[in-house]
Amino acid sequence: MALSEVPSRVHALRKEIEHHNYQYYVLDAPSIPDAEYDRLWRELQTLEAAHPELVSADSPTQRVGAAPLAAFSQITHRQAMLSLNNAFGDAEVTAFDKRVREGLGREEVEYAVEPKFDGLAISLIYEKGRLVCGATRGDGNTGEDVSTNLRTIKAIPLHLDTEADLLEVRGEVLMLRRDFERLNEAQRARGEKEFVNPRNAAAGSLRQLDSKVTAERRLHFFVYGIGASEGWPTVDTHDAVMHRLAALRLPVSTERAVVRGLPGLLDFYRLMGARRSTLPFDIDGVVYKVNRLADQTRLGFVSRAPRFAIAHKFPAEEALTTIQDIQVQVGRTGALTPVAHLAPVFVGGVTVTHATLHNQDEIDRKDVRIGDTVFVRRAGDVIPEVVAVVRDKRPTPEPPRFDLLAQYPQCPVCGSHVVRLPDEVVARCTGGLFCPAQRRCALLHFAARRALDIEGLGDKLVDQLVERGLVHTPADLYSLRFSVLAGLDRMAEKSAANLLAAIEKSQATTLARFIFALGIRTVGEATARDLARHFGTLDALMAADEQSLLLVHDVGPIVAQAIKQFFSEPHNLDVIKNLRSAGVHWPEVIHSQPSAGMLSGKSFVLTGTLPTLSRDEAKEKIEAAGGKITGSVSKKTDFVVAGVEAGSKLAKAQTLGLTILDEPALLALIEKELP
Ligand code: IVH
Repeated sequence: MALSEVPSRVHALRKEIEHHNYQYYVLDAPSIPDAEYDRLWRELQTLEAAHPELVSADSPTQRVGAAPLAAFSQITHRQAMLSLNNAFGDAEVTAFDKRVREGLGREEVEYAVEPKFDGLAISLIYEKGRLVCGATRGDGNTGEDVSTNLRTIKAIPLHLDTEADLLEVRGEVLMLRRDFERLNEAQRARGEKEFVNPRNAAAGSLRQLDSKVTAERRLHFFVYGIGASEGWPTVDTHDAVMHRLAALRLPVSTERAVVRGLPGLLDFYRLMGARRSTLPFDIDGVVYKVNRLADQTRLGFVSRAPRFAIAHKFPAEEALTTIQDIQVQVGRTGALTPVAHLAPVFVGGVTVTHATLHNQDEIDRKDVRIGDTVFVRRAGDVIPEVVAVVRDKRPTPEPPRFDLLAQYPQCPVCGSHVVRLPDEVVARCTGGLFCPAQRRCALLHFAARRALDIEGLGDKLVDQLVERGLVHTPADLYSLRFSVLAGLDRMAEKSAANLLAAIEKSQATTLARFIFALGIRTVGEATARDLARHFGTLDALMAADEQSLLLVHDVGPIVAQAIKQFFSEPHNLDVIKNLRSAGVHWPEVIHSQPSAGMLSGKSFVLTGTLPTLSRDEAKEKIEAAGGKITGSVSKKTDFVVAGVEAGSKLAKAQTLGLTILDEPALLALIEKELP
């Protein structure tokens, strides 16, 4: 390349690379393959290496970080970076809207609404379109100059296509959840401390004196407004400001709206509350801003916060509390799950007193001890969990580490031995159905809708039956008497009679349901069905050796071994014998191969409501005839069974030209199939 062409090539490469950065990091829509991007990047790097005089701070090659700093220098903000007042609950939002309306003398006000990003506030200074400086909020008046670190964030443009002499852009630096997970995985692999949440990870990454570390951490940025400006065209509304910023290719979130009045605010809050868990980043509330800038000026500020805006916070999903004790819970399969007993704490909208610690490996990884101060997380409806320990707050002398097996060599419920198999993460009680905890879970499983379907046998009732020693195994359910049931707590005569009727009804079942109801470890509903179809009778299944079990569709060595193990326990055989003599029965099919009829292996999709069959009944019939049910329609679907209000699945089936059956057609097809 001729020397005279180098500067323009360097310029063109920079422009092109920044364009692809914008596509990738701001719009989340990559425009070229990675290899091609790398090629452009290397070409620019080579040219800059050969012509160091052309290197400038705003070149994309400078986004990888620079030499470590000794300390950050201080930056005084041209305009103070204020904070927002918070509203917790509708009443405080109502009061905010009332104050605004009264302040403006208006019936109804228009608001710009947006997420409250859970990261760190920063200010970016662009002079004549060039990024010259970036700083943290600090105390609001003075912050730290983190320019070099901010330049590594690819969503932050190094150049803006604007004539404005000065434009201060304000927004939030954060870490996307997927980058946070990746970072913690890497920290774990290196044996280094994990970050508690994306916000802490973002803060830790932005305040690195070595900007090369920041560059590796993949931070993201969202703009939410402007600060000082000179020569920047005036517009009327906050929404218009955001549009202009987006047009300058700054990263503006699409999760924004302009709404009217209090109902508009509250609707947006509920909408974002529902969307929250699906967003790629954390938000801790929503922000409402009076849209008209002239109105903002009229309302002004009180002390350090604007009167024209407010943050409506979500209930925090994480909170600090202390671990008062660690105990275990015994599940249906005998697994001992360590559970932290907490000082009560309000998190995720409820008071939480217990959190799962999963298993010994997790306890070791997080090094959780009794007495520790911990972060507890409860997001949505998931079980609260202990996320991390605050090591500085560990009491002295240090509490000992928690060792589940040493603490519980015996099951806390039944006293049987606890073992941890070499290839398993969980420790288990070996008591089987002798263990009341396992018995309780086993009974609930046995009575579940997809098992023997005993309506009305819920956990409170099972607790009483087990505690009073009335029921030891599922077989005992069939000898319960009316007088006994009617004497239980919260049991009216009517419900006792209903329960007895439900127990009696459950005697007539199917082999698949019965196998599933036994609660054999690793044997779920689908495997139970495969086993029933393959062996045809319970005796054939019980007599099967591992080799013949392995012939069943989807049964591998672990499942085969669990089945074998189950049927080799004498007490399990007793339970089965007693269930049969108590009258539990099912139609048995004497054949050893899965049906080879035309429905065998055919796939069905069910959609809409059928006139007489429930969804489960239709499913059971199809599967009994050898068919299988799948969730979505594709070219490979053999039949679509459509009822009333069948929606998009039916439409898709029609487009694909698939065979569509109504209920009578389905029944006719099945009848043809079964003898
Ligand atoms: S506007 C006058 N909009 O919340 C303050 N702030 O408590 C103007 N934040 O320091 C801030 N998302 O770090 C605004 N959409 C959003 C925001 C937002 C997050 C943070 C920001 C600020 C803090 C205020």
